[in-house]
Amino acid sequence: MSQPEYLIAGNWKMNGLGADADALAKGVAAGASSAPAVTELLVCPPYLHIDRVSAALAGSGAQVGGQDCHNEISGAFTGDVSAEMLADMGCSYVIVGHSERRDGHREGDPAIWAKASAALRAGLKPIICVGETEQERLAGKAEETVARQVRACTPDGVDGSKIALAYEPVWAIGSGRTPTRDEIAAVHKAMRDALEDMLGADAGGGIRLLYGGSVKPSNAKEIMTLDNVNGALIGGASLKAEDFLGIAATCA
Ligand code: 13P
Repeated sequence: MSQPEYLIAGNWKMNGLGADADALAKGVAAGASSAPAVTELLVCPPYLHIDRVSAALAGSGAQVGGQDCHNEISGAFTGDVSAEMLADMGCSYVIVGHSERRDGHREGDPAIWAKASAALRAGLKPIICVGETEQERLAGKAEETVARQVRACTPDGVDGSKIALAYEPVWAIGSGRTPTRDEIAAVHKAMRDALEDMLGADAGGGIRLLYGGSVKPSNAKEIMTLDNVNGALIGGASLKAEDFLGIAATCA
């Protein structure tokens, strides 16, 4: 499989007007050629900014992705955007199942499975998000919860190079708190085991597993060097090009 070892993805969430998106994308484009060769850079802006961000990133090697998609190709779905539309706009990836969608938009595992399948249909690579709540972690159920989500949301028979999964503990998002290295390694191992069991050692073993939740340049190296951690999904720190690129630099 010829994909770079690490996928470094910025989830801009609902931040920035057009001029902010232009400036941030230009900052990423300017530094992208100095990012380590083992990294693939991706930014996921709000839908409305995808076109201008794509233009700003052209030729830099950094890619653009969506933050969500509907599972249908088209139809009466007010406010939604299809995977085909994202592909048409130049996206190569789409995030599905982010905890802010699971929680704020009541999306469950079957809906996320359908979105991941829609992304593959459209030729996009889904980044499927999973993660336990604080109560689930305190109850000792982090691995079990995440493995269940992995099995329920991952399309059967998928080629491992066509998807990525992101472990984002709900309580670590935007909180400044991160699990310990051992805790991250244990969950990523549980994800790997579930994927290998589902898809076989080759496909399951080749899927990149990202960690997300309060990743910043100062803690990225200790996380990126863990077994079964193959990238980062970055919220707050991806809104500064310097920090986003600084996280990628730790993968060298
Ligand atoms: P933060 O990096 O701001 O914690 O957000 C993580 C996240 O939700 C990325 O999808």
